[in-house]
Amino acid sequence: MLTVPEFTARKNKQGAEKLKISMLTCYDSSFAKIVNESSIDCILVGDSSAMVMHGHSSTVHATTKMIATHVSAVARGAPDKFIIGDLPFLSIRKDLKSSVEACKKLIQAGAHAVKMEGIQGNAELVHHLVHSGVPVMGHLGLTPQFVHQLGGMKVQGKSIEAAEQILRDARAFEQAGAFALVLECVPSDVARKITAALTIPTIGIGAGPDTDGQVLVLHDLLGFDPTFKPKFLRRYLNGHELMLSAFERFHTDVQSGTFPTPEESYT
Ligand code: KIV
Repeated sequence: MLTVPEFTARKNKQGAEKLKISMLTCYDSSFAKIVNESSIDCILVGDSSAMVMHGHSSTVHATTKMIATHVSAVARGAPDKFIIGDLPFLSIRKDLKSSVEACKKLIQAGAHAVKMEGIQGNAELVHHLVHSGVPVMGHLGLTPQFVHQLGGMKVQGKSIEAAEQILRDARAFEQAGAFALVLECVPSDVARKITAALTIPTIGIGAGPDTDGQVLVLHDLLGFDPTFKPKFLRRYLNGHELMLSAFERFHTDVQSGTFPTPEESYT
């Protein structure tokens, strides 16, 4: 299992020795078992679960209870993987006590670290968590919990000022003690500059090739939704077509009476 010190070590290796970090989201035990068998470095139990698993229109519908339930399912399926639990919308914006309580729920459910969107107003909390034994992964750029503030799911850091603000926030995450940083939907050159400026690894999604790692949403990688086509997404399976065809074949076999055969029946 990748450990927090190994995330930093990966960043510091050079040349052929340098291994990028692969992170995949996962929300349930059966997929987690397959990810556990793979070489994927770590699993993010993202608040994208609100959309992917629960059909909500945005991640603001995720709750700590929802993420903790998915974390415990994933932890049972993937005992060999480093698991990061996502802190949902507003779960860390009330007071220190309830923020710590939310983190405790995710860690006790089986997460090894938590991820939080945005550093402004959260720096002291990151410091407090890190010094309480809770590793923190930051998330900047397009932070989907800010969808209403940002006016939609748009690429961030396109102007010089916006890019400089993301760099300042990235440094603030690092200074507060975060061990890694997700950069979502920012121009490649912005991600490259931030990656070069930090001592902690960056993990990109829609942030170009120069981050220290890459993350994708599992269901996107598997091609479950043919209508979701962001520029950054590479599909590694035509999951929608494959599953639809399996369902149709089952239906046809049931209708024609060719399933089950005597071999598939008890005597
Ligand atoms: O919730 C999530 O899946 C995420 C990734 C897109 C980084 O935050």
